[in-house]
Amino acid sequence: MDKLVSSWYKDQSLPESYIFPPHERPGKLLVPRCNTVPVIDLGDTRTNLVHQILKASQEFGVFQVVNHGVPPNIMSETMSVFHKFFELPAEDKASLTVYTNDPKRCKLVTITLDYDREKIHLWRDVLRHPCHPDCIEFWPQKPLRYREVVAACSIEAKKLGLQILELLCEGVGIEHGYFENELTEDLLLGANHYPPCPDPSLTLGIPKHFDPDILTIVLQEHISGLQVLKDGEWIGVKPIPNAFVVNIGYILQVISNNKLKGAEHRVVTNSSDHRISVVFCMNPAGVSNIEPAKSVVTATNPPLCRGFQFKEFMDNFYSMDGDADLALQPFKL
Ligand code: OGA
Ligand code: NI
Repeated sequence: MDKLVSSWYKDQSLPESYIFPPHERPGKLLVPRCNTVPVIDLGDTRTNLVHQILKASQEFGVFQVVNHGVPPNIMSETMSVFHKFFELPAEDKASLTVYTNDPKRCKLVTITLDYDREKIHLWRDVLRHPCHPDCIEFWPQKPLRYREVVAACSIEAKKLGLQILELLCEGVGIEHGYFENELTEDLLLGANHYPPCPDPSLTLGIPKHFDPDILTIVLQEHISGLQVLKDGEWIGVKPIPNAFVVNIGYILQVISNNKLKGAEHRVVTNSSDHRISVVFCMNPAGVSNIEPAKSVVTATNPPLCRGFQFKEFMDNFYSMDGDADLALQPFKL
């Protein structure tokens, strides 16, 4: 059976296996009342930027950036390419849904980790692939401009990510250029497609999680869905035209020795619209050594964990069903 949500959602009510336990369901709070996620104008002075980005990262672990220099046509063309991709007939996407564990390959799946092991399935499909030039030969060939447009957008996303990391380094006191190496070597793309859902109150596009990376740059459209947990309450990240959402990743939290906070977030569905989001995850190479930066560790702020290889963490992350806190546990001091 083809398991992609997009292949069968029109014919059915919400299957049992998509219903979350009561305490995890969004319930009636699909559209939270307030939007207080900080919006940062990257055209501001450097001193102001360092201050604002640091504050946003400590208080929310997430913020939006505007005036970031990424050309608006690159953003809109990227969204348009993914709309066309997800609308392609099943036969054009079939080769991408074949199981492979080759990390260079491109995959179109609905699973997070393992469909058969998953107790509850997610109301979304996701296309994933590395953005490294060596992997472009595996990217989709349809729609026609996919490779050209997505390559341009991923170059911009990486540039933006490094710029934000520089501001964060200055803010927390980590040396200049700390991340300009194998710590941000693997840029991974995830294009999420959340089809209209028969009962958004019972299910989720993605349940509560931390992104297990350094930084995530998210491109979303005018359709809401992304929510962040702040002081025990879910708040919506309001779509703003031409903005990117930036999430502090769990690994950046570790490197900053908890001076920066990763945001726990989730995605709710809706009953009328397809929602597409494109996430660029800045990931370390598997063999990268991850540890609290020496410059943030002091006698009064001792390291929270020992050094480890990124792939050791990711192995734990998978075996702990995507729980980043549990994945870090063996390395804690
Ligand atoms: C993710 C994620 C947010 C969104 O893919 O990890 O959090 O808006 N996506 O789809
Ligand atoms: Ni996420």
